[in-house]
Amino acid sequence: MKYVIGVDLGTSAVKILLVNQLGEVCQEVSKPYPLIIEKSGYSEQDPEEWVEKTTEGLAELVQQFDGDIRDIEGISFSGQMHGLVLLDEGNNVLRNAILWNDTRTTNQCQEIYDAVGKKRLLDVTKNPALEGFTLPKILWVKEQEPDIFERAHVFMLPKDYLRYRMTGNIHMEYSDAAGTLMLNVAKREWSEEILKVFGISADFCPPLIESHACVGTITAEFARTTGLSEATKVFAGGADNACGAIGSGILSEGKTLSSIGTSGVVLSYEERSDLDFEGKVHYFNHGEENAYYTMGVTLAAGFSLSWFKETFANQEAFDQFLEGVGSVPAGSNGLLFTPYIVGERTPHADSNIRGSFVGIDASHERKHFARAVLEGITFSLNESIEIFRKNGKAIDTIVSIGGGAKNETWLQMQADIFDAKIEKLTSEQGPGMGAAMLAAYGCGWFPSLKECAKEFIKTSKTYYPIKENVETYKKLFAIYQQVYAQTKLLNDQLSEFRK
Ligand code: XUL
Repeated sequence: MKYVIGVDLGTSAVKILLVNQLGEVCQEVSKPYPLIIEKSGYSEQDPEEWVEKTTEGLAELVQQFDGDIRDIEGISFSGQMHGLVLLDEGNNVLRNAILWNDTRTTNQCQEIYDAVGKKRLLDVTKNPALEGFTLPKILWVKEQEPDIFERAHVFMLPKDYLRYRMTGNIHMEYSDAAGTLMLNVAKREWSEEILKVFGISADFCPPLIESHACVGTITAEFARTTGLSEATKVFAGGADNACGAIGSGILSEGKTLSSIGTSGVVLSYEERSDLDFEGKVHYFNHGEENAYYTMGVTLAAGFSLSWFKETFANQEAFDQFLEGVGSVPAGSNGLLFTPYIVGERTPHADSNIRGSFVGIDASHERKHFARAVLEGITFSLNESIEIFRKNGKAIDTIVSIGGGAKNETWLQMQADIFDAKIEKLTSEQGPGMGAAMLAAYGCGWFPSLKECAKEFIKTSKTYYPIKENVETYKKLFAIYQQVYAQTKLLNDQLSEFRK
């Protein structure tokens, strides 16, 4: 039996999966690392920590592996997106990486709009200037730390830096480059126009490659410290959302992913590069060659539910807490919740908006509130689905992973609110599995990622929309969509009382 390794370089930990040719996860190792939060809004990590923890994790995995080490043929990566790593001429790290969830760059985003124009930025990069993206971070260092910027020779993204340390080769692949705001997403090349506006030289951007491209083998030194074979092939990998999509089989038009973690993501496969979503959803290159995906983000998805449980029932386990929500009819007897408890991204990029319960009635019990929270989170995700559909995308099947896939009532609710079939998978490793699949495809085990997905990704149960509930939720969704506008002013006024 042959194996590949998928390394998921996340924000809180690196998770490493050993996967065999049948797509079975044979071993799993996770090593956490901290965030460095110097000030409110700042979020950094030491790139050395990523290298150390991945090395440790791989060494542990190799130690537990009882087969022939040469049977581990390849390794690939999924990475937290957008984080800025700056290297000097000797390829030494110049400062801590500034991460995707660092929001210090509001002024730089405005500078980007002023210099490029919103419409032109969307034409070229397909995305709006958001604090999390890489270009605003580069401009921040240029303005605030000119001495460091002067010495910066090349920039990298987190998993690309890790791969460089394992191979000695510097590259970036399209799915992650798409989140820099410097890539012409449709043409799949660095945008000379954007680089010129900000005085960034072409050499500052690494050469671009495909996600499944082999960049070489691991160095002798890395083989020695981990115990892996020197012949282990290294494949470029992809952005975590792209890999999450690959690892859930989102590899053809019409396939969509609903992933509910702390935040929630609705992501849809897109074969075209010329659609215009006016920046309302993210539009990135996929980890599959010449494919794309669009993505909407609900900032507090699983977080709304955990907040509600922690606040009102912190002693209870989730299953116990959600008991009874299945007996409450669709619509929670007229109770509506908006999950804006930390602001929102899609479709309202608004950091000031806050959540609401609307329609509280004396007859409501806790189970009505719990169901209303589930419905509100799902309505928010449905806003992204509605944007996709309005732009002509057919969304018939949605794969559900994360928290939303752990509860039967929530799975059926997604089918009813999204008015689409919902598929639950037998194993939902998401990004780590996507990374392993890129290595499996790169190693030549399969003629395409789609073929690999046929073998590796299995549906365990499908939930079909119930007509009566679909009708009820259509009416309620129309009411839900009014709550943002009707509470915006109230929340702006309340913001001064937030401590
Ligand atoms: C995507 C984004 C996050 C990070 C998390 O735009 O900011 O999903 O990729 O790692």
